[in-house]
Amino acid sequence: MESREQWGTRAGFILAAVGSAVGLGNIWRFPYVAYDNGGGAFFIPYLFALLTAGIPLLIMEFTMGHKYRGSAPLSYARMNKKTEWIGWWQVSIAFVISTYYSVIIAWAMAYTYFAMGLQWGDDTGGFLMGEYLQRVDIVNKAEVGSVGSIVPGVFIPLIIVWIIALGVLFKGVKKGIERANRIFIPTLLVMFLMIVIRALTLEGATLGLEALFKPNWSKITSPGVWVAAYGQIFFSLSIAFAIMITYSSYLPRKSDINNNAFITAFSNSGVELLAGFGVFSALGFMATQANVPIEEVATAGIGLAFVVFPEILNSFPGLNGLFGVLFFGSLVFAGLSSLISIVETFIAGVQDKFKLSRTKAVIIGGGLSALISILFATQGGLFFLDAVDYFINTFGVALAGLVSVVTVAWVVRNLKPFQDHANAISDLRTGLWWRICLSIVTPAVLGYMFVLNLIDNLK
Ligand code: PHE
Ligand code: NA
Repeated sequence: MESREQWGTRAGFILAAVGSAVGLGNIWRFPYVAYDNGGGAFFIPYLFALLTAGIPLLIMEFTMGHKYRGSAPLSYARMNKKTEWIGWWQVSIAFVISTYYSVIIAWAMAYTYFAMGLQWGDDTGGFLMGEYLQRVDIVNKAEVGSVGSIVPGVFIPLIIVWIIALGVLFKGVKKGIERANRIFIPTLLVMFLMIVIRALTLEGATLGLEALFKPNWSKITSPGVWVAAYGQIFFSLSIAFAIMITYSSYLPRKSDINNNAFITAFSNSGVELLAGFGVFSALGFMATQANVPIEEVATAGIGLAFVVFPEILNSFPGLNGLFGVLFFGSLVFAGLSSLISIVETFIAGVQDKFKLSRTKAVIIGGGLSALISILFATQGGLFFLDAVDYFINTFGVALAGLVSVVTVAWVVRNLKPFQDHANAISDLRTGLWWRICLSIVTPAVLGYMFVLNLIDNLK
């Protein structure tokens, strides 16, 4: 077997894993999910999901990659020939995500530029849909041609995003991914901390924080809240996307798997909590300025980042442009390090399977994803993006996670060997609880989640 690429240092691996985990999901998804699902009370299902599914699965994926030293398909194949398809399935989900994740980073890049001089004007919603994205259903249809025409304001930053991501990937694991994360993650943290601290000192910040953290205990018995907690943990930790298996396949033989998993998970949750503070302080500020209840300004995702935030920045008491650049710049850095990890999974998968050079694999895998992503840079792009994102999150993630734990725990019956493998090289040793979480608790909850989603969608 030819020697596999390796991380240069332990910190390099942790930074890359944290870089993958910390992404758009932390900044624009978590604060709203928490707020919408019981506020302070949400932290109970969240912590439960983190401790019984998130961290145990992260340890399982780190162990798989480290033990079998392969991309997800190769690792699954080495575990058992018949399970290779699970790896390909996870890789396929990652591939689909990469095609639109890259587009959102492109928007954030464009908005970093717009932030200088607050170019979005007063009607931030109209600016996003009409002027920036040139949505066909908003702009006069007769004037703007077909859904297929490319929006230059999205296309140009999209090309830049792909040049950076593929440029890093060409350079390989140590000189590319590790080095990029050494720059991206500290930069992200500094930028993000600055904006969070500023947000906390805004007038009305406490109002926002109250809204986020006030526990609504009645929500805690609702199954949907638990589903939301698991969904957030899986997406946020990049679990069941083939990513963590791939990254850990580049670990040196002597590596502390269990500790690294805890560090990765707690760093990711730390950034989520920070984002919660920052986003809701800013929302509290806005509600105070506009003299409306907080429910009216609290939203998630695209609306939060590209409509509400520009509006908040408009009324910022000074240095508006600078804080805009910090906010959208944080999104760009957080997104890029996640995108690199997503693309690396199918590059590695193709490379292992067809014995290609990294260069060829990057051109084929990365190039294909980049090409498809252009579809989302068209006037109909937002529509496709919503549809694909919904489909992936509803059917892809929970099901892929469920199939992988059930396979390892019950079909191949490999939990004990995995545990021995990880414990032998880790300072921190897992016990029976780890096997119970993965063989019983997690399959039960994920199975329930999947059925619930299915019923919901058949209705
Ligand atoms: N974990 C990343 C986030 O929180 C998103 C992501 C999902 C990254 C899937 C890679 C794969 O945004
Ligand atoms: Na995350």
